[in-house]
Amino acid sequence: MIRKAARDFATNELLPGVIERDEKMKYPAEQVKKLADLGFLGMMADPRYGGGGMDTISYVIAMEEISKVDSSVSVIMSVNNSLVCWGLETYGTEEQKQKYLAPLAKGEKIGAFCLSEPEAGSDATSQRTTAVDKGDHYLLNGTKNWITSGGTAKVYLVMAQSSVELGHRGINAFIVERDWAGVSVGAKENKLGIRASDTHSVMFQDVKVPKQNRIGEEGFGFKFAMKTLSGGRIGIASQALGIAAGAYELSVEYSKQRKAFGKQISEHQAIQFKLADMATEIEAARLLCFKAAWLKDQHKDYSLASSLAKVFASEVAMRVSVEAVQLHGGYGYVKEYHVERLMRDAKITQIYEGTSEVQRIVISRSVLS
Ligand code: CAA
Repeated sequence: MIRKAARDFATNELLPGVIERDEKMKYPAEQVKKLADLGFLGMMADPRYGGGGMDTISYVIAMEEISKVDSSVSVIMSVNNSLVCWGLETYGTEEQKQKYLAPLAKGEKIGAFCLSEPEAGSDATSQRTTAVDKGDHYLLNGTKNWITSGGTAKVYLVMAQSSVELGHRGINAFIVERDWAGVSVGAKENKLGIRASDTHSVMFQDVKVPKQNRIGEEGFGFKFAMKTLSGGRIGIASQALGIAAGAYELSVEYSKQRKAFGKQISEHQAIQFKLADMATEIEAARLLCFKAAWLKDQHKDYSLASSLAKVFASEVAMRVSVEAVQLHGGYGYVKEYHVERLMRDAKITQIYEGTSEVQRIVISRSVLS
């Protein structure tokens, strides 16, 4: 039922206009509103806070279907669900959940996760943003980069250094409201892919953050970010899976229509083998996503599994989408056939929420420990 609901939504609401939104970098405001009405922006959150109360497997399925068509929309869905709502629900106080989680889970507000900085991407412990303890509040100063939903979000989860001498153990996580004095947003980034999504720098200048807006104990911020990202990576792995599966479905369809050398190209073994390789890799990626999701639902350790799923699925998304363009020939290189957009969108899945290299750090440390 979830797959069908997500697929119908993607076909009826996202497909019309997806090329134009990509080209004009037009934020999918109307589509995100409808996604919220369907309950997809807080799928896994507890119904007590307005969420859908669904498991992670359901989330993976919905993410796959939405990402087959429009990854600019699915990244908004992924960040809101697995970084913002999950982070708040798991580590927030009851007061924080009532105030912030409820509108986010219902999709009345969009949330953003602010960890990356101009000089701290993969090296996430080197936070330059500072949060100085001033008694009843912290004074927040710094700049965050490449923030998904940075321009539209009303709530930011911000990581900042409070005690340089403590290294990563001095980092705190805060809930910061967009409308507070000192919060500003840079220009929308002009990106290779996921062009309709709203990626901005977010600046904090002498922002007063009340003590009650810190998430967890003093110094919990880096662990908060890592634990939250372990789940976020399942979302991005599912997005990559969807991009690959979308490119594959378009390729199967096209290969049955296009004729060359007197027959449908699907009757040529060169094309059949490409489709066979795509199908095999996509199935493996899907099972890795399901395994990570299942472990999370069983409350078992899923950090390794989510890195395995993300590194594999994102590389499958890249390989499959490049092959899909090749299979479509000249048509693949023009926008109307969608596969060139899927290829451009695929690239970011190897970069955000931990590059493929970061996933290999996580995996190799686990292998060698
Ligand atoms: N769960 C809990 N704790 C964890 C953890 C996890 N998964 N991973 C690390 N930690 C803890 C460690 O135990 C350690 O704590 P202690 O010293 O107290 O034991 C602490 O965190 C520091 O860990 P490391 O020593 O491993 O730190 P490191 O400097 O070697 O970095 C890293 C490790 C894996 C490279 C990490 O920095 C990382 O994941 N970097 C990538 C950051 C990232 O994914 N950014 C994405 C930005 S968000 C985004 O893209 C959202 C969007 O808009 C789409």
